[in-house]
Amino acid sequence: MSVYIIVGTHWGDEGKGKIVDYLSENADLVVRAQGGSNAGHTVMVDGKKYVFHVLPSGILHRNSICILGDGMVIDPEALIEEVNILRKQDKKVVKRIRISGKAHLVMPYHKILDRLVEEFRGEQRLGTTGRGIGPCYEDKVARWGIRVGDMLDELNFATKLKMAICYKNALLEKVFGHPPLKFDAILRKYYEYFQIFKEWIADTSLMVYQAAREGKKILIEGAQGSMLDLDHGTYPFVTSSHPIASGAILGSGIGLLENIEVVGICKAYTSRVGEGPFPTELRDETGTLLREKGQEFGATTGRPRRCGWLDGVALKYAVRINNIKWLALTKLDVLSNLPEVKICRAYKIEGTEVEEFPVNPLYWTYCEPIYETFPGWKGDISGIREYRNLPLEARQYIEFIEDLSGVPVALISVGPDRRDTIIRK
Ligand code: GTP
Repeated sequence: MSVYIIVGTHWGDEGKGKIVDYLSENADLVVRAQGGSNAGHTVMVDGKKYVFHVLPSGILHRNSICILGDGMVIDPEALIEEVNILRKQDKKVVKRIRISGKAHLVMPYHKILDRLVEEFRGEQRLGTTGRGIGPCYEDKVARWGIRVGDMLDELNFATKLKMAICYKNALLEKVFGHPPLKFDAILRKYYEYFQIFKEWIADTSLMVYQAAREGKKILIEGAQGSMLDLDHGTYPFVTSSHPIASGAILGSGIGLLENIEVVGICKAYTSRVGEGPFPTELRDETGTLLREKGQEFGATTGRPRRCGWLDGVALKYAVRINNIKWLALTKLDVLSNLPEVKICRAYKIEGTEVEEFPVNPLYWTYCEPIYETFPGWKGDISGIREYRNLPLEARQYIEFIEDLSGVPVALISVGPDRRDTIIRK
C-alpha cells in the first residue's frame, strides 16, 4: 500500500498526532489536506512534547517532505511561529515544507469575525477555536477568499485584499460596531510573511500524485474527526471542512487512486470539545476521572473536553463513511484500574433499539446509549509491547470493538510516547 489516509473516528482529539508520527517513520510525504490552526496534534518523543497546529505531525521525521495541501486554510503567522520553534533543533526543517498555492489564507478579519459571530450566537454558539477557520472557509465558498498563490503577484494580491477589506470593514462596522481594519498595515504584514514562505509554495497535488504513482509512502493526516465533518457530522456542531477520507482526497488534490488505505484512529473512550450532541457523555465522577487521567484539555484552546464511554454506534458509522480498513486504538492505558468499562453498542430511540447513527438530528440529543459492560483491568499497561501480555479483560474490550466495528484493531497505543505502542501481527 502506498497512500495511507488517517482519520479520527469521533469528534477529534483521538490522538492522531502520535499515530501519524508513528506511521510516518518511513513516509516520503506527509500531507495535511484540510483545516488549519484549529487542529492540535500532540507528539511526545523521548519525554519531549511537541504540539502542531498547522504543520503535519510527520515533520519530526527528517526524511519526510511535509505538505500543507490544497484544502487547508493557512494562518501564516501561526505557521511561521511553528516553523521557528522547530528551526531551533533542525535548521533544515524549512527545506521539507511545501504549501499548495490553492490553500486559502486566514486573514486578521477572519479571526475577529470568528469571535464576534460566536458572541452574536450567544446560547447557540458552536464552540469554535476562534482561529478564524470557519470565516475563512466561508469566504472560500463565497469566492471572497485569498489563496496562497494570489501572493505570487503583488498587484493581484493588493487588489483582492483591498476589495475584501472594504467588504469586511462594512460588515464589522455596520453589524458589529467594530472599528475598521487598516488595509496598509495588513498588506505590509502579509508581505513580510510572504518573504518567508514564498520558497515553500509548490504544485503539491502533482507532488502527491507522482509520489503515489512511484509507490512512495504517503500519509495524509486528518485533523478533527469524522463526526465533525461538515456534511456527515453532527451539523451544525461541526468543523467547516471535511475531515473524512473523501476530504483527504479532495484536499490533497489526488484522485481515487487504487493504492489507498484508510486508517481510523479511535480513542478507547470518547470525548468532544465545544458544544453539540454527545450521546455517551458522562456528567459524573467517571467523566471527570477520564478527563483528568486522559489529560483531556484542548491542545489549541486549553478548554476541558467532555468525556464519556466509547460510542460504538458513531464508530461503526465512521468505519462506513470512511471505508476504514483497520483501527488504531489509543489511550487504552487511561481505562486501567476502573472497576468496569463500557461500550455503547446501540441507542434507544423512542423505545426502539437502533444500531445505526440516526439521520434525524433530534435523536442525537434524545437517544439513550445502550451499553455493553466489561470487567475492568488492574495495573499499569503502558510498558506492555505484546498483545498477548495485555490483561485478558483489556483484550476482551478490544475484541468487542473489532466485532462491533467489523474491522481489526491492528495498533494499540498504551501511553503518549512513540514507544508505548503495541502492533498486532
Ligand atoms: P486533533 O487533530 O486536534 O483532533 O488532535 P489529535 O487527534 O492529534 O489529539 P491530541 O494530540 O490533541 O490529543 C492526544 C493527547 O493524548 C496528547 O496529549 C497525546 O500525547 C496523548 N496520547 C496519545 N496517545 C496516548 C495514549 O495511548 N495514552 C495516553 N495516556 N496519552 C496518549
